[in-house]
Amino acid sequence: MNTDTGDSQQPPGDGPPPIRINRRTLLLGLGALTAIGAVGYWITEGQPRNPGATFATPIRIPPLLESEIIDGERVFRLTAQAGETELVPGAVFATMGFNGTHLGPTIRAARGERVRIHVTNDLTMPTTAHWHGMILPASQDGTAHQSIKPEATWTAAWQIDQPATTLWYHPHPHGQTELQVSRGMAGLFLIDDDASSALPSEYGVDDIPLIIQDVTIQSGRTLPGTPITAPIGRIGNTVIVNGTHQPRFQASTSLVRFRILNASAARCYNLELATRVTFYLVGTDGGLLPSPEPLTSLLLSPAERAEVLIPVPRDADLVLRSVPHDLGMSHGDNITSGAEDTLGILRITRAADATTKTLPVALSSTALPERKDTTTERHFTLGNTTINGKSMDMSRIDTVITANSTETWTISNSSDRAHNFHIHGTQFAVNAVNGAAPEPQNRGWKDTIFIAPGDTAELIVPFSSFADPSTPYMYHCHMLWHEDQGMMAQYVLTDGEHQTGPLHNNNGESHH
Ligand code: C2O
Ligand code: CU
Ligand code: CU
Repeated sequence: MNTDTGDSQQPPGDGPPPIRINRRTLLLGLGALTAIGAVGYWITEGQPRNPGATFATPIRIPPLLESEIIDGERVFRLTAQAGETELVPGAVFATMGFNGTHLGPTIRAARGERVRIHVTNDLTMPTTAHWHGMILPASQDGTAHQSIKPEATWTAAWQIDQPATTLWYHPHPHGQTELQVSRGMAGLFLIDDDASSALPSEYGVDDIPLIIQDVTIQSGRTLPGTPITAPIGRIGNTVIVNGTHQPRFQASTSLVRFRILNASAARCYNLELATRVTFYLVGTDGGLLPSPEPLTSLLLSPAERAEVLIPVPRDADLVLRSVPHDLGMSHGDNITSGAEDTLGILRITRAADATTKTLPVALSSTALPERKDTTTERHFTLGNTTINGKSMDMSRIDTVITANSTETWTISNSSDRAHNFHIHGTQFAVNAVNGAAPEPQNRGWKDTIFIAPGDTAELIVPFSSFADPSTPYMYHCHMLWHEDQGMMAQYVLTDGEHQTGPLHNNNGESHH
């Protein structure tokens, strides 16, 4: 059983372990502590003031996933697979991905389209494909109730009916999510609508995904501090973006839309442009903002997304980096959780013949639900690895909700660990954090929100019409070690007439 006294347990997730390190990397490790700065360690001494200023490797862009239209549906195919990937020059890691050995292709579809996605499991362990942030029937959501055995294929189909945004997909197997996601099983799922084309939308040209992950380079004896146990999970010592180490992006336009996903297991990033150059937030987890919001920094906890516009002036040489922040824990816990690190994320330069694009003044967004729309209030208390004192039980329904209703969910972090909170099958509004208006980055549609120790967030959560009393959706902490430890619970949507259960597993196997 998982309990709240598990503070001293080691996170079991491996992250992608390097399986070969060549001589050059080994020498770097043996060489001197100054070499460590080059791969971005958690030690603050000797960290370069502006890491990223020298990044030179052209950033990889995950390919768009091809589709075919069959009987009016846009049909996609994904295959989960394992392999080896040289994520850092000289260091080959054991990795996992979709349609490749690391990460997954970008899925793109328009609001209103019907999609059908076939997911084949070529791994040697069960997996799932969860469409994070998607509003769809629970039976199509890809949780552990829709497990895909090795060599099996699972198919999800639904109609996309939510505003343009940047969602993502990743596995959700019970207790194995950290392992699979941190080895690379993550991809973006972009939704377009009429409003979103006002923004730069040419994928890979002026519409650029940034999937940020941290990995650990370890050689066992040569580097100090083999992976550390942080209260929020495993923190890697090296950042990769779209699987590229020390990436550079050469802009061919004067304004670039970046869709940023924190796909790390536990690490939070406090993003800024060196040195405090203004950028513009245009979208949060579930949709666009009414107008671009000028910001100088942005905290992204695991699973959160942000769409930002970055102006790239002539002769620009910009550095997107993560700088120290406060996760609300003790100083020591903040340090082991990576909150004091300064890390280069991406260097952005501009091509000599770049074309000019101007910042849009207004965007079209969908009105957020308000407190007066809600009929039910619920309270959730976050412990060290529990929600309302309980650990995940796949056969227990924790919350029964009436389809088509809107509820107020108040989430309080009563532990001394930082957490975040994600609800499947919905996009919500943040009404207040500690009784005050939320930060600009939490004023749009959200499906995941960071909650520091002692903090309380009040969420306005609209639920869909997809009543299914026997198939649950999840809500959980998205720090993946916490999730794997059981910091997760289940809700079902009912039409108000039917009782819940018995629970139905759409993989055809019963777990109980
Ligand atoms: Cu990103 Cu339960 O999901
Ligand atoms: Cu999700
Ligand atoms: Cu947590």
